[in-house]
Amino acid sequence: MGSRLAGKTAWISGGASGIGAAVTRLFAAEGANVFVADVLADQGKTLAESIGREGGNARFQLTDVSRENDVRQSIDLAAKQFGGLQIIVNCAGIVHVGLLHEYDESDWDRLMGVNVKGIYFSIKHALPHLRKQASSHMVNVGSISSFVGQASTPAYTASKAAVLGLSRSIALDYASIGLRCNCVCPGITDTPMLRTHLNATPDPEATLRQRVRRVPLNRAMASDDIARAVLYLSCDDSSGVTGTSLVVDGGYLAAAEWDAG
Ligand SMILES: NC(=O)c1ccc[n+]([C@@H]2O[C@H](COP(=O)([O-])OP(=O)(O)OC[C@H]3O[C@@H](n4cnc5c(N)ncnc54)[C@H](O)[C@@H]3O)[C@@H](O)[C@H]2O)c1
Repeated sequence: MGSRLAGKTAWISGGASGIGAAVTRLFAAEGANVFVADVLADQGKTLAESIGREGGNARFQLTDVSRENDVRQSIDLAAKQFGGLQIIVNCAGIVHVGLLHEYDESDWDRLMGVNVKGIYFSIKHALPHLRKQASSHMVNVGSISSFVGQASTPAYTASKAAVLGLSRSIALDYASIGLRCNCVCPGITDTPMLRTHLNATPDPEATLRQRVRRVPLNRAMASDDIARAVLYLSCDDSSGVTGTSLVVDGGYLAAAEWDAG
């Protein structure tokens, strides 16, 4: 247990699973009040209860980040429940696999609604609360696809480039209220999202081994690897850092070609 976030309240979208759940647990261990906003009710409640049993302060609220009213209510509730709000972490994300000519418009809109519009709603409705603080933080989860193309996931790739651009713009537009906004960009990370994709292949473990050969550290990232980067950007350890991205990918983007063998 640390105290880097003692007395702070964090609203974490997508906080019930994978990277978001690791952020929720780490933030609670660092003394934050954590507010989990997710569409996974059972997982979100179970996580909040287990943090409570361990002496932390956690609350779950069913929230679809693509719906403005959900986000507004959820953020207002977090601030009311814990007496203020200092940190917004946008982890919620979905992937749609397919080629553009096979997409329905609704596939595109759904993905952009969650991955991009959700961030817009979060800053819009967090702002009245963040303004009351001398300093505040927003961390948005991008991807290595914020920087490079990725086959068969065009909307996802576009959305993650947008997450990075949006993070930079938010950093500029709200620096005057003491908000620092940054983007964490994970590489291949072992989460339920990744497992869903691996499980669609004939031999999931072989597929993972093959994908990880492209990673200089020769392993998938763990959710905790990403959560520690989010923590760094959500506390005073990163004072002075805003409008930037922190890539946590085991070296993936550093190499034009790599075969870990
Ligand atoms: N796993 C990877 O390899 C990887 C790599 C790069 C970036 N990312 C990004 O990391 C973030 C977390 O993904 P993960 O890998 O932990 O996957 P995950 O599926 O375990 O977690 C995503 C979470 O977002 C939630 N969510 C989905 N739609 C939502 C909505 N409309 N409203 C609220 N919550 C919603 C899900 O319920 C889930 O809890 C995502 O933004 C993802 O794009 C993941």
